[in-house]
Amino acid sequence: MPSSAPPANGRPGAGRAPLAISATALRKSYGDKRVLDGIDLRIPAGTVFALLGPNGAGKTTAVQILSTLIAADPGSGPVHVGGHDLAVDPQAVRAAIGVTGQFSAVDQLITGEENMLLMADLHHLPRREGRRVAAGLLRRFDLVEAAKKPAATYSGGMRRRLDIAMTLVGDPRIIFLDEPTTGLDPRSRHAMWGIIRELVADGVTVFLTTQYLDEADELADRIAVLSDGRIAAEGSADELKRIVPGGHVRLRFADPAAYRHAADALREYSGHVESLSLQVPSDGSQRELRSLLDQLDALGIQADELTVHTPDLDDVFFALTGGDTRVPAQTDRTARTTDRTARTDQTARTDQTARTVKPEETLR
Ligand SMILES: Nc1ncnc2c1ncn2[C@@H]1O[C@H](COP(=O)(O)OP(=O)(O)OP(=O)(O)O)[C@@H](O)[C@H]1O
Ligand SMILES: [Mg+2]
Repeated sequence: MPSSAPPANGRPGAGRAPLAISATALRKSYGDKRVLDGIDLRIPAGTVFALLGPNGAGKTTAVQILSTLIAADPGSGPVHVGGHDLAVDPQAVRAAIGVTGQFSAVDQLITGEENMLLMADLHHLPRREGRRVAAGLLRRFDLVEAAKKPAATYSGGMRRRLDIAMTLVGDPRIIFLDEPTTGLDPRSRHAMWGIIRELVADGVTVFLTTQYLDEADELADRIAVLSDGRIAAEGSADELKRIVPGGHVRLRFADPAAYRHAADALREYSGHVESLSLQVPSDGSQRELRSLLDQLDALGIQADELTVHTPDLDDVFFALTGGDTRVPAQTDRTARTTDRTARTDQTARTDQTARTVKPEETLR
């Protein structure tokens, strides 16, 4: 899907919103290494855009260019952020944005409150106003109790919250969050998602990079996958999932004879003898599930477990970012999806990735 596809997303009216960020043919190389090889971005105001990509893909580089920290290579096209031309008026861009970098900007030696007041000073807020803003943000980010303690004593999650609170001191309308939840536990990640949703509800535009595909799925209106310096695909989570095949129903049997019976009877499947499991292509819809169950019933086949798998962003990521990390076999990929669902417990949306139902309990 071309990266110049017209902006469209879940938020009503957002398709007509002005662009908060636009870039054309963005290029950056370090020596011989071409990190960004001409990427285009069109991000409507008030939306969340997620940039995904494996380690070293160039996500931080893109954030650094868009936030004026480093320059794009000559030959790149124009970049506009918050309505300002980055080449002409970088100062105006800086005034419009907030940046939470991949690595914390928190000064560990001073307290959370002092970090906030330092930011207020950097934004030239009058002292009283600075105190008011700092106190409000410390409250909002649940840091009131910790405010007087040195930041070195904070947990990773608290430090990340302080980091973002500091970014918000200048009330930016566009914020860049470079891997905001890396290293956070599931509860802290959810708290951070809540904060990001609140920002967007206030009309803030969020440019997010993340390694967590479920995070992009949860938060982003549009997602771009960066691979080999280019945007390999861009779209809503649902649009991206549609470009990879892989939806299937997995039947597992305890009894080898039942497995063989099913394998002989079913027309289309891929089998895995060691685990006595069969994968039948399916879009996971109620209609297709019912048809499969009717077929099994008619043949007197009783599967011990039935699992529905729909493609998720992991599948998209592996399919698009390829290379050595690509997972070749459908069975491997299924196992990984199930692992991930189990591992991330309450963060995983089990309805989306792997629903396990006993055949006799379904749709009857
Ligand atoms: N200042 C620099 N000098 C030389 N190479 C650099 C520099 N900054 C980044 N790179 C290289 O550019 C590539 C992209 O780095 P970048 O930090 O943008 O990746 P990333 O997608 O953010 O990765 P991660 O997921 O690990 O944070 C990497 O190969 C990196 O080594
Ligand atoms: Mg990075």
